[in-house]
Amino acid sequence: MPGKRLLANAENIQRAAEILKQGGLVAFPTETVYGLGADGLSETAIQSVFDAKGRPAYNPLIEHVASMELARELLILNPEQEELFWELGKRYWPGPLTLVAHKAPQVPTLATGGLDKVAVRVPAHPVALELLRLVGGPVVAPSANRSQRPSSTMADHVLLTLADYIDAVLDAGPCEFGLESTVLDITQTPPRILRLGALKLSEYSFDLSEGSQGSPGRTDKHYAPLIPVIRIVETAELKQANANTALLVYSEGLFSSRLTERLPNDPEGYARGLFAALYRLEALKPQALWIEAPPQTPDWGSIWDRLKRAA
Ligand code: TXA
Ligand code: MG
Repeated sequence: MPGKRLLANAENIQRAAEILKQGGLVAFPTETVYGLGADGLSETAIQSVFDAKGRPAYNPLIEHVASMELARELLILNPEQEELFWELGKRYWPGPLTLVAHKAPQVPTLATGGLDKVAVRVPAHPVALELLRLVGGPVVAPSANRSQRPSSTMADHVLLTLADYIDAVLDAGPCEFGLESTVLDITQTPPRILRLGALKLSEYSFDLSEGSQGSPGRTDKHYAPLIPVIRIVETAELKQANANTALLVYSEGLFSSRLTERLPNDPEGYARGLFAALYRLEALKPQALWIEAPPQTPDWGSIWDRLKRAA
């Protein structure tokens, strides 16, 4: 459906904003991954996001806004949370941090999966910011992929899984980070990371505990390319792969199979290319995918999280 791809110029961003205001679905680029946008205050529009993604109703969405002030309006905060909110917002927004706190009454519980807390974020991509500014209010935007599939880091992959379900995708080329935002619940003491993501842990000066229980979508299968068998294997084991096994590697000069994708051997470069590589390998229809195990160091933590849940 080439007609749904809109080059992200001023005129088309305006057009996309109009579609959103009328209750339509528009995928748009953020600095992390493409988002599947809908009017964040309209129950009908929000419902169509769940339908388009095939996403279970209990898995909440992130409300995206153009400014910290607009994000603040969606929350109810006690004094400690208020202080933390502004501190984190000033430091990291616009950027790949999502904050979870108690929701204000105007936030539909449909968006929060029935929870009394809402996730909010000010994305850093200029196209996303301009779109949000033109819409004026919050825009819910899960990653723009069918449920359980890898997130999309380019418009082609948005269209691959969602073309039949959306009104348009604003195409601004590949995303800068390639990995979703870090999700942080600021109602807990200390604030709790619900999802590792593009914002690096080492950047925090706060005492954070990491958990996987707090976020409803975290237990589900996710990020999975349509390949029957997916394994994470040690570098030495890669030699045993047969001709129909696709390889996702980062080590230099090891393999030259048609079914091999090599990603950069630094975590930022690897993250940027990961989801697109998974979609390209899937298109080759291999019987199996072996993923070379990345280093076991903290800076590869969010990548490990995605790989384990893909495999
Ligand atoms: O980088 C990103 O965050 C991208 C771009 C488009 O902004 N969006 C994204 O959305 O990854 P999604 O829906 O694919 O992932 C949102 C995550 C899920 O794990 C969800 O369970 C969690 O955030 N989440 C959302 N609202 C929550 C809430 N109220 N409480 C706990 N977890 C929440
Ligand atoms: Mg997602």
